[in-house]
Amino acid sequence: MTTKKYETVLIEKQDGITWLIMNRPDKRNAMSPQLHLDMDDALDELSGDPETQVLVLTGAGEAFCAGQDIKLYFRGGDADPKRARGKASRASNQWRWQRLSTFPEPTIAMINGYCFGGGFTQVCACDLAVAADEAVFGLSEVNWGILPGGIVSWNVAQTLNMRDGMYYALTGDTFDGKKAKEIGFVNFSYPKATLKEETIKLAKKLMEKSPPCCATPRKRCARCAS
Ligand code: ACO
Repeated sequence: MTTKKYETVLIEKQDGITWLIMNRPDKRNAMSPQLHLDMDDALDELSGDPETQVLVLTGAGEAFCAGQDIKLYFRGGDADPKRARGKASRASNQWRWQRLSTFPEPTIAMINGYCFGGGFTQVCACDLAVAADEAVFGLSEVNWGILPGGIVSWNVAQTLNMRDGMYYALTGDTFDGKKAKEIGFVNFSYPKATLKEETIKLAKKLMEKSPPCCATPRKRCARCAS
């Protein structure tokens, strides 16, 4: 199957693993409307792709994802709020939650660096998550006087325990990959130098064990119930 090319998303395939990479490294992979549209299309294309046995979501360069692009996502649709902003917002929710959480093969979020605000949603949507010890997580919204918006609050409430979720949403304090492992936000944390190698080992284990259909319990419910 030919791999489509995107302006803000990279797709690399090797040995059954598909690396889906948010690719705006100069902007720390902050999510622009274009990135949302590209990701939405890329996940649609990859769903059912025979070469994809495990999907790994990560970020190019130093960051996993610096959250929504404050300028382009929040202000870029000002001139056309109904159409442009609505389209970006629908794509944003669709790829980060619906498409990822029901992706037919197992998914791993590999958090290689900064992960802020809206970037938490795609971590929660993946079946498993591994982080670099050096990664920096933050629900920074409170610094602008708001609680995490969109579906982030719901994602955090589902994934973190209540005390940790409230603490990080109310203070905006950052935490690293080791802390993310300790509070159960990720499965494992490794030194950044070995993160990719460890992620590949995990992906290979999933390939050996997971059945080809209804790959995880969450998907079994979502897909077979219909
Ligand atoms: N939106 C738009 N642009 C961003 C964002 C963002 N969320 N994050 C980083 N950028 C841009 C910067 O403006 C800068 O652009 P420029 O080079 O054109 O000036 C570039 O990315 C690099 O950013 P720096 O701050 O210089 O990079 P550094 O490595 O020092 O810091 C960090 C990275 C910690 C991620 C910092 O950029 C940051 O705090 N970003 C904001 C993170 C955040 O609060 N996100 C939540 C957004 S709200 C939401 O998601 C709901």
